[in-house]
Amino acid sequence: MQMSDYLNIIEKYKDLPGGIIEAYHALQREYNYIPEDAIDQAAKVFGVSKAKAFGVATFYSYFKVGKRGRYVIRICESAPCHVAGAAEVVNALEQQLGIKMGETTADGKFTLEFAECVGQCQATPVITINSKPYVDVSPEKLTGILSECQ
Ligand code: FES
Repeated sequence: MQMSDYLNIIEKYKDLPGGIIEAYHALQREYNYIPEDAIDQAAKVFGVSKAKAFGVATFYSYFKVGKRGRYVIRICESAPCHVAGAAEVVNALEQQLGIKMGETTADGKFTLEFAECVGQCQATPVITINSKPYVDVSPEKLTGILSECQ
């Protein structure tokens, strides 16, 4: 399903001049970096080799290319979650995992990303782990939630 998310973003720029660069901008806006798998998708959409697509992404220093971990943790940063303390959850996750938002742990296990409202606003703040929502998250609850990821 992640692949189709990438495709939805990339295909919007398919017919524009310099579209691949616009698509990378859009991906980076969405994920804070450009996931490697998304570059493969871009290569297909724009009909260029993977090496070329990768080369374009790494040529510009403002693009950040990265791998995603086995568990992708996304923190909702839309207003209701923000007000309910999403920033504290972000801090706690960054501390517990020893990485910043948009990064992946060295063992390839966890990636931290921001997300828009995931439709669970009745119990904020909300995070998702590989698309499964966890509601009413607090820094205290994170150790238990993370230990489920084995
Ligand atoms: S605002 Fe976070 S789930 Fe809706």
